[in-house]
Amino acid sequence: MEKHPGAAYYAPHNWMKHVQDEVGRTGRKYGALYVTESDFIHSVWAQSIWTPLYDCRFSNAQDAIRQLQALGKNWMPYEWTLKELSKEISRKIPTVLPKTQKFPYNLPDEPIGTWMLLDDHRLLACPQPISPFGLGNLMLQENNKDPPSSAYLKLQEALVRLRYTPNASSFCIDAGACPGGWSWVLLACGAHVHAIDRSPLDPRIMSHPKLSFTKANAFTILPAHHEPVDLVCSDVICYPAVLYRWVMDWVQSGKTKRMIVTIKMQGNPDWQTIRQFQAIPDSCVYHGSYNKHELTWIWPSSKP
Ligand SMILES: C[S@@+](CC[C@H](N)C(=O)[O-])C[C@H]1O[C@@H](n2cnc3c(N)ncnc32)[C@H](O)[C@@H]1O
Repeated sequence: MEKHPGAAYYAPHNWMKHVQDEVGRTGRKYGALYVTESDFIHSVWAQSIWTPLYDCRFSNAQDAIRQLQALGKNWMPYEWTLKELSKEISRKIPTVLPKTQKFPYNLPDEPIGTWMLLDDHRLLACPQPISPFGLGNLMLQENNKDPPSSAYLKLQEALVRLRYTPNASSFCIDAGACPGGWSWVLLACGAHVHAIDRSPLDPRIMSHPKLSFTKANAFTILPAHHEPVDLVCSDVICYPAVLYRWVMDWVQSGKTKRMIVTIKMQGNPDWQTIRQFQAIPDSCVYHGSYNKHELTWIWPSSKP
């Protein structure tokens, strides 16, 4: 096996174009995997970044298995081609397959390596990709009855990645909260929630004894006016630059321990502001399983 000079970016669905805008267009596409020869770039649109990347030439399935075992412990395949051979190899190494998880869910401590056959004598492998979920997809058990919007899954995913679950003594701010999917998640964890929106939330959420509500522009809610908070969230639809200024107020104030915000895109991504968010120390910008044309920023997060 040889160390590959570049990196691979896994980007299913419609996100490949944004990945190519980020990392350049000289790479090669294998289904949803984009392989470049240049140093890796921390692409926010890729679901999983394979770096360091290994290029393994093998004589037969047994040789492929031996090389993967030498590189790492747990593996998740991207079955793009030669699916039978891929399955034969997977059966003989510890293989993690994506499965639905119940929130709250603790991230695995061990990395999940990723690999893909290029042909019947060559594969690409990464023992520790940049994603806590191997290929990057988190599937959470859905609840179609209680939450007033499907946005609750986005917050659950962010809490999993933040490795934080609020509890009965937590105090959380939910900005841009209507109709109340995010507040529902926080209340279900037992937390006290202060929701802010221009419109009232779903009556089932509004009447919860641990919820307080302010009808206001969320960006007028500043840390200087507040007691310390465990978690500040925002799902406000707004320009990324406006959100960034508000986020920086909170981060610099020391009044909150954690933040989760979605960065909405209107048309082309606002790359300049995305890079500003990425530059906030100990934080992470990602495109999660439940994000549409938006990104999520979480802080603090030493791991993506
Ligand atoms: C995507 S929705 C939020 C969905 C919510 N997180 C949920 O889980 O149900 C965005 C919300 O932001 C609110 N909003 C937009 N601009 C706002 C502002 N400046 N201040 C407060 N709320 C705002 C809108 O009224 C809308 O309810």
